[in-house]
Amino acid sequence: MRTVLVTGGTGTTGSRVARGITAAGAVSRIASRSAAAPGQVRFDWADPATHGPALSGVEAAYLIAPVGVADPAPLVQPFLETAAAAGVARLVLLSSSAVQESDQPGLGDLHRRVRASGLEWAVLRPSWFMQNFTGQHAASVAAGEVVSATGSGRVGLIDAADIAAVAVRALLDETPHNTDLVLTGPQALDYAEIAEALTRALGHHVAHRAVTPAALSHHLTSLGVPPQWSDVLAALDDDISRGGQDFTTSTVADVIGRPPHSFADYLTDHLAAHTQGLQS
Ligand SMILES: NC(=O)c1ccc[n+]([C@@H]2O[C@H](COP(=O)([O-])OP(=O)(O)OC[C@H]3O[C@@H](n4cnc5c(N)ncnc54)[C@H](OP(=O)(O)O)[C@@H]3O)[C@@H](O)[C@H]2O)c1
Repeated sequence: MRTVLVTGGTGTTGSRVARGITAAGAVSRIASRSAAAPGQVRFDWADPATHGPALSGVEAAYLIAPVGVADPAPLVQPFLETAAAAGVARLVLLSSSAVQESDQPGLGDLHRRVRASGLEWAVLRPSWFMQNFTGQHAASVAAGEVVSATGSGRVGLIDAADIAAVAVRALLDETPHNTDLVLTGPQALDYAEIAEALTRALGHHVAHRAVTPAALSHHLTSLGVPPQWSDVLAALDDDISRGGQDFTTSTVADVIGRPPHSFADYLTDHLAAHTQGLQS
């Protein structure tokens, strides 16, 4: 039976990828710094001694780069070399629709390194996650607002479950994808429309508070986000405001054979699962 190492396996996409791998009849090995549960292996990007044991006996790996690290290559390149030496056949990297392959330090540099690794590969480039509005912004949404510097720009929000479904195919399909896949939901929405959908689903008013990128960066820093990362997030919002994310793709349906979930359907399912005490 094939074994897949899932880095970030306790997180938003990784936990769903791990469940999908198991459902497909393969073994998921969940990488985690704490490795607190059965089926998990201790893995820390900052501790290369954990990489070899995590990769031993693995056919494919789902790769989430160290989050919030400006230049991840020094941590990830040794992992890629260890993977190749351990006989790993395939790598699937999670990136972003906002990031393209690049030879400059950053996530785009990892596209290049994964493609050049000599292994089978895919780079997933999803749009913004629907889970952002039920996870990291849940307190703000509960308080009745979403704050952004996106103006009236649209973004093709995607359910992390759909990203995971594509990842499972990219990890397990007989034929490697060997390409990058830009993933969106079925509709690009602006933040006023997102706030309306949240209002309808939650039954209390949620407003969109539009601010400048500088004000957003300041706001995020006041919430404890490191200043450099606040600037990155504000710049991403600015890109949305300029129309840089106003598109959808057919890639999810092309790969998994069904359309991606709409934001309204995602919210309905999330609230139903929440009511039953399940994570969504
Ligand atoms: N949110 C969005 O809208 C969006 C859109 C496009 C792309 N993305 C990309 O998505 C990625 C994040 O993916 P995600 O949301 O699925 O992950 P996530 O929920 O942020 O979880 C990341 C996981 O990484 C693990 N982790 C943290 N530090 C680690 C370290 N030093 N070594 C090993 N593991 C570590 C944590 O697990 P443990 O605590 O168990 O170790 C955690 O479960 C980022 O690269 C981001 O650019 C996000």
